[in-house]
Amino acid sequence: MRAGWTPSLKHDTVAVVNFGGQYAHLIARRIRELGVYSELVDYEQVCEDYMRRVRLKAVVLSGSPMSASSANYSVVSEILKLGVPVLGICYGHQLLATALGGCTEKGVGEYGRTKIRVLTKDTLFESWNLEEDVWMSHRDHVSSLPSSAKVLALSENNVIAAFKLKDKPVYGVQFHPEVSHTPKGSLLLSNFLFKIAGCEPSWRPGDVIEELIAEVRRKTSGEGKVLCAVSGGVDSTVTAVIVKRAVGERLLAVFVDHGLLREGEVEETLAMFKNIGLNVVFIDAKERFLRKLRGVKNSEEKRRIIGEEFALIFKEIVEKDPSIKWLAQGTIYPDVIESGREKHSAKIKSHHNVACLPEWLGLKVVEPLKYFYKDEVRKIGEKLGLPKTLLRKHPFPGPGLAVRIIGEVTEEKLKIVRRASKIVEEELQGAGLYEKVWQGFAVVSDSKWVGVKGDSREEGYIVIVRVVESSDGMTADYVRLPYEVLDRIASRIYKEIEKVTMVTYAITPKPPSTIEPC
Ligand code: XMP
Repeated sequence: MRAGWTPSLKHDTVAVVNFGGQYAHLIARRIRELGVYSELVDYEQVCEDYMRRVRLKAVVLSGSPMSASSANYSVVSEILKLGVPVLGICYGHQLLATALGGCTEKGVGEYGRTKIRVLTKDTLFESWNLEEDVWMSHRDHVSSLPSSAKVLALSENNVIAAFKLKDKPVYGVQFHPEVSHTPKGSLLLSNFLFKIAGCEPSWRPGDVIEELIAEVRRKTSGEGKVLCAVSGGVDSTVTAVIVKRAVGERLLAVFVDHGLLREGEVEETLAMFKNIGLNVVFIDAKERFLRKLRGVKNSEEKRRIIGEEFALIFKEIVEKDPSIKWLAQGTIYPDVIESGREKHSAKIKSHHNVACLPEWLGLKVVEPLKYFYKDEVRKIGEKLGLPKTLLRKHPFPGPGLAVRIIGEVTEEKLKIVRRASKIVEEELQGAGLYEKVWQGFAVVSDSKWVGVKGDSREEGYIVIVRVVESSDGMTADYVRLPYEVLDRIASRIYKEIEKVTMVTYAITPKPPSTIEPC
């Protein structure tokens, strides 16, 4: 299934079998935070020999929007054959119970903070009190256990909250130990990893840099130049620095200004590259992007045009220099998993606007960060000695401000969104909140709001401020900013930016909204 370096061959690995639950990534991240390497495995791929080839120490079954049914019983029997400890969470708990001869029924469900009573002392609950709060999110529940299992805990509603097989380290928990609302969840996971599965906590992303460099060197094996598009963001910069250390002067790093960057970003990014010793070819492509975007209102169309223009620029570069054979991309772990799962999910936005680029250009791909989560990429960047300002930078979409301008991208709207975004960032920094939030930015709307500026009527733009917290961008909630911070942001925007007559704050979580408006 995989060639070359993979952490799962060298480190104790926990496979999280992904049944499509919203917390599957979070389970893997929590396990990695505890120092054990963890990977998501699609439930349809469990039978592949991957599980037998890696240093597998345990398996976790994730939650799911599905109900436990016989369709997935074979997954359970394949997993039990591996002979490693198993922990089923929510749907995983129900699936284990039913596949082994118990029953699951629909009920009223339990949602949010719930009390459970631990009935049987077991290593899984070591250092737990007999009564603890946990986070539940389920409608179905296990109504009877197989005869091979015993109850470990009951919820305040007498629902089976945890069980264990009598003669094997196979566990089910109805609640979510991976979410922070289960105060002792991390302790339960660490009991499972270290006391039950005997994992060694050897996973420290900052320690694998030399292996990543060696792998890039091995893969590109002395042949041809490596092209790397750098945006000034964390993922592409860390990628370029690793590739540079691997191939030296054979790296061709390119920074394209598509005219949709934030205020001062071109100058700051070029200075940062200089400061870290990365030679970069700068391409000023503002005019060609903005010309192509003229008159275009539809957001997917804007993304398509920007992706296509990027591809054309890279094609021109490759045509001029046929010694370029490789494309280095800053793909990170959630991107790999999400794109692999596209068959199961509806396309919401064309995020990966350069996804088809390598095939189209006839280049081979090297992706040194494809096993890492964003927080791990930051740790690698820290170990590489990259500046804090870069590592703490908020994620910024490839199509730039085009997706923060609702409707047509015009010079006027660009000017407004640039200034307003800068104000949001400055005020978050001033309040000491910038590094605590996932993203904070401004959006300019296509609609107008009648205002009074001076004594006259003025139809001005609506600016929407969006500040969200998130752990991976896949779900998000708005940040409850203090009123004083909101006041300062709003008043600076409507006072300092001409033609803005309304500032609003976006308070819808993801889902149902997405983070960016387009
Ligand atoms: P949405 O808007 O889909 O965004 O909730 C989730 C996260 O992804 C970022 N984002 C992008 N990143 N290219 C990127 O590299 C894109 O086209 C793109 N669109 C959104 C967004 O900023 C958020 O962090």
